[in-house]
Amino acid sequence: MKRKQSAKAGAEDRERRMAWWREARFGMFVHWGLYSQLGRHEWVMNRERIPVKEYERLADTWRVKSAPAREWARLAKRAGMKYMVLTTKHHEGYCLWDTKQTDYNAVKRTPGRDLVREYVEACREFGLRVGFYYSLMDWHHPDGARCAKSEPARRRFLDYTQALVRELMTGYGKIDILWYDVSWPLPTPEAWESRKMNRMVRKLQPDILINNRSKLPEDFGTPEEKIVAGEPGRGWEACMTFNGSWGYYPSIPAEDWLSVRKVLSMLREVRAGGGNLLLNIGPTPGGSVPPEAVERLIPVGQWLKKNGEAVYGMPERNGDCFAMDRFTRTGNTAYYWRRFWAGREMTLGGFQTKLKRVSLLATGRTFAFTQTAQQIKITGLPMKCPDRIAGMAVFKLEFKGKPKQRLGAGCVLL
Ligand code: GLC
Repeated sequence: MKRKQSAKAGAEDRERRMAWWREARFGMFVHWGLYSQLGRHEWVMNRERIPVKEYERLADTWRVKSAPAREWARLAKRAGMKYMVLTTKHHEGYCLWDTKQTDYNAVKRTPGRDLVREYVEACREFGLRVGFYYSLMDWHHPDGARCAKSEPARRRFLDYTQALVRELMTGYGKIDILWYDVSWPLPTPEAWESRKMNRMVRKLQPDILINNRSKLPEDFGTPEEKIVAGEPGRGWEACMTFNGSWGYYPSIPAEDWLSVRKVLSMLREVRAGGGNLLLNIGPTPGGSVPPEAVERLIPVGQWLKKNGEAVYGMPERNGDCFAMDRFTRTGNTAYYWRRFWAGREMTLGGFQTKLKRVSLLATGRTFAFTQTAQQIKITGLPMKCPDRIAGMAVFKLEFKGKPKQRLGAGCVLL
């Protein structure tokens, strides 16, 4: 009984902590580190088997312009993003903050600045929630691999890990998200002492959200490079690269970057599946946002300004086929995302609920319609897609009750 009650209290507490995140829908991931200087993917040290001693030299050559994090945060805000997550330490092991645990950090070496502090301040300045990515896997620490084979090495590495996480949780004010990554080489949460570590984190940051990559489910799932919903009711966040690499990779051609419309489609899919989208930028070594990202994120933000109602807010997950067709929903309202345009009429099939009103979300313009048992026919549409930003118009369909759509092919959309 007691157990049940505390599980319920735990679930309620989680809902309370997660409310802002569930409504936020859209965040910016930032992968930035020594690897950015090489511009060949953030796994370059591993993929090219660069010896530690050789790689370490990158810690003496990192030149960073003034206040790059303000640029990211300003862009995130303009793009309609509500939070950010920065790689405070990626697999390469370089710490972007003023840690006392190792000299392999951005204050003692180059650029000679606490990049985490600059980032946190920039997020706050632009009203964005603050997330820290932290890689458990560490290719630089001498115990990072051998901790799997040697008990004294494991003890040292865990003490190191916990001390780093503690610093991040104490030195920078309120932190909203802790985003762990890769838990190689230890096999279990027990071996990582993840429960103990996360208990410490929550003690220091009672409202924090923790992802599922310390080998414990914690607050939310993290499908990577794909949009797949978790169990109903559980938070999930699809993390996506913009161009196939998390770290700066200038030789990737522009056509390999996600288009504006693709980003919008992803937002629609995560919304319909009750999840979030964490979209990555890999700044240049100096800290600038690649122009390909800027060019795409600004129209995304302009579009969201007009159509954000179809994206933000408490997720109300569609039926199991949430990614099919083009609907999102809030209460009695369905939003129909229309890309293909074919004449002045359109027909929506299978709606079982009575429609009261149809309008264009961006302008409020209303349209005439008729409804039968199987079809809604909307008339008087403009000949061409009225959305000039991305060619993606949203129709707001206000129903009498919660909209239900049955198409009879075994797949429930709404
Ligand atoms: C992977 C990669 C890593 C990246 C992360 C983001 O786990 O190892 O480079 O930071 O995904 O989700």
